[in-house]
Amino acid sequence: GTRWPLFCPPVISSFGSLSSHMPSGPLAGMPHTASGACGGSGLSHLWSFGFGAFSGYGGCRHTAGGEVPFFTKLRLVEAFQRVDAITGMTKRKVVPPSFHECRTILNLAQILASRSQLRLITMDGDETLYPDGANFTDTRIAKKIAALLQRGTKVAVVTAAGYGYEVARYHERLGLLFEYLKDANLSAEAAGNFYVMGGESNYLMQLSPSFTLAPVDEALWTSFRPGCCPLDAQRLLDLAEEALRTLSEDLKLPACILRKARAVGLIRKPVNEDNDESIFGFVSDGGMHRENLEEIVMRVRRVIRDEFGPQCMVPWSAFNGGKDVWVDIGNKAEGVAMLQGLFQLSPRECLHVGDQFGASGNDLPARVCSPTAWIANPQETAAVLHELLLV
Ligand code: IMP
Ligand code: MG
Repeated sequence: GTRWPLFCPPVISSFGSLSSHMPSGPLAGMPHTASGACGGSGLSHLWSFGFGAFSGYGGCRHTAGGEVPFFTKLRLVEAFQRVDAITGMTKRKVVPPSFHECRTILNLAQILASRSQLRLITMDGDETLYPDGANFTDTRIAKKIAALLQRGTKVAVVTAAGYGYEVARYHERLGLLFEYLKDANLSAEAAGNFYVMGGESNYLMQLSPSFTLAPVDEALWTSFRPGCCPLDAQRLLDLAEEALRTLSEDLKLPACILRKARAVGLIRKPVNEDNDESIFGFVSDGGMHRENLEEIVMRVRRVIRDEFGPQCMVPWSAFNGGKDVWVDIGNKAEGVAMLQGLFQLSPRECLHVGDQFGASGNDLPARVCSPTAWIANPQETAAVLHELLLV
């Protein structure tokens, strides 16, 4: 029968609703990253919060009662004092704490609480481990990942990038990391602690003793989510494709559609770089203006919700990737929850690190089932890993 994770999160299809449950007051709009006092793993959670919501699945894509739980206590005072010692924030008289400073305090408060109990760290790919669209090259991050794996912490890249089980495609992105781990003479057992969840929650691979990825038998992990009808998933993608096409024509984006088995994307058309000067002031985004991509995400979500309603049985996510827009079957809430089920971990033993916790990003769904840290670039990821290792 179905084996649920210790903590069954409600699976959210998009996070527009989640953001409406963010705190109001001084931290309104802040990353609701740190996850505090619920104690996390209790079975009571499973029934009162998770299972009830999960039974509605796509229909209950929002948390039951609309609340995002805290999973650990937060060491806010200690974090504030450390950040203040670096920034001298409390000496200022005119400029208030910035969004960036508050984000850093919350991240540190979460890390201080998580590091002694951490057993699974999930990390986004683009802009978290490597710059958008680029491949992994950062040896500082590689060294820290090696240290985590060696001490028995599971490390999983949970990325929207989905290439089915074509492991060569993931090797293209992460190959240098694997070479580093090999050169560091990581034991087979330590290497086996590394996983990649591709396509949000669709394809799980594990690092083998020969430092190549190998698919994990789906019977071992897909039972941690309710099944979804393949025909409904295809219908959802057809609808999303049509909406993406129409919206991009309306907004005159220089874009084309890329359809995959479990996703549909709106990506930039190959263009003649010599003509870029003609798009005055918008050269760096190549005509794929952030504001327009945001508009498309919000409208395509609306189209899907209107058609599939609140009882939608298909998990999905629609997000702005910075230079593209994607609608995926699956989401990072499911991706992280299935790993928690596979390893039999409770949320307080996990941490998801990502760059996309804004209203149109794809890391926010992970927040319903895991403590999180919101980073802005791979340098910050290196700093997060450094802090986590200081136990
Ligand atoms: P992430 O930040 O690691 O989750 O990766 C997001 C980026 O992966 C998107 O912005 C896309 O550029 C890229 N990508 C490649 N394939 C897919 C896919 O199938 N779905 C969504 N994003 C994809
Ligand atoms: Mg990212």
